[in-house]
Amino acid sequence: MILVTGGAGYIGSHLVMALLEKGQNVIVFDSLELGHIETIETLQKYGNLKFIKGNLRNLDEIRGVFMSNKDIEAVVHFAAYSQVAESVKNPQKYYYNNVYGTLNLLNAMLEFGVKKIVFSSTAATYGEPEYTPIDEKHPQNPINPYGNSKLMVEKIMDDYDRAYGLKSVRLRYFNVAGADSKARIGEWHEPETHLIPNVLKATPDKSFKMFGDDYNTPDGTCIRDYINVEDLAQAHVLALEYLKNGGETNFFNLGTKNGNSVKEVFSVCEDVKGCEIPLEICPRREGDPAILVADNTKAKKTLDWEPKNDLRYSVETAYHYEFKNKG
Ligand code: UFG
Repeated sequence: MILVTGGAGYIGSHLVMALLEKGQNVIVFDSLELGHIETIETLQKYGNLKFIKGNLRNLDEIRGVFMSNKDIEAVVHFAAYSQVAESVKNPQKYYYNNVYGTLNLLNAMLEFGVKKIVFSSTAATYGEPEYTPIDEKHPQNPINPYGNSKLMVEKIMDDYDRAYGLKSVRLRYFNVAGADSKARIGEWHEPETHLIPNVLKATPDKSFKMFGDDYNTPDGTCIRDYINVEDLAQAHVLALEYLKNGGETNFFNLGTKNGNSVKEVFSVCEDVKGCEIPLEICPRREGDPAILVADNTKAKKTLDWEPKNDLRYSVETAYHYEFKNKG
């Protein structure tokens, strides 16, 4: 049995789908504050999925999960807040949830003898890039509370390995994109802040706002590394196998090693939609680095992971999901 925290959310639900399709039994623990019960109901059609509503900030709720499910072998921990701007305004929310909540999870794991965890970390732990593409040796100097909260958890995990033998794999995501290839699940955030869904949703009344076209990049817009959500889910499956096979605590960048500018993404979206998308050039958004691209060599070598889907595929699947579910 695999326990997935935050399994009703965007990335977590794609891992749950991948595990269920492999015949794996899964428990999802999710507060449904940001995740959706509809996503759980969809997932339950594809395999043996037990859902437990609860919050990691409540130690007894997560202890209860381990107490009544003695067959949990490993945990994949997605549950977190992840909006950079919000974290700057309200750091308390981020440290309480992302750090304290994770401590409760880790302590419950230790109490019940579960010593394997795959953790959703982020490119935001690196802060302002000193070079590109970013490998795992790049210094980690986050520039916002969200990145800090994720880095704190990474450090706690190192200490918990040294002291208690808890093995972790930390996956540092770059820009996650796309949806399930059959449009069963996808990206569903309220409010939506991410680039691709915002471009696809734009209408003549609500044009897409491009945050800055005066960056020091070839077309003046920010460059990001868009990693397909199903490829990302596959990396988690491989990380679980790595831990099951006795792998040591480790950390990997998950991206494609290719960057695309906001303008390039915009034009792929127009192409996929087959129409012009209303566009408004706006000032820069605070805290956006010009270029963020992953060196994924380590994940390829150690986990034998290979991202298969390109940006266009991510946009197509995101569009199909959006169209199927919201018309
Ligand atoms: N963008 C727009 N308009 C929008 C939304 C985004 O122009 O409506 C631009 C942003 O300014 C940025 C690019 O599109 O240049 C990508 O923005 P996203 O919000 O989609 O993604 P980010 O790169 O800001 O964020 C991602 C993850 C975060 C993580 C961060 C690390 O979603 O969780 O990378 O820096 F913290």
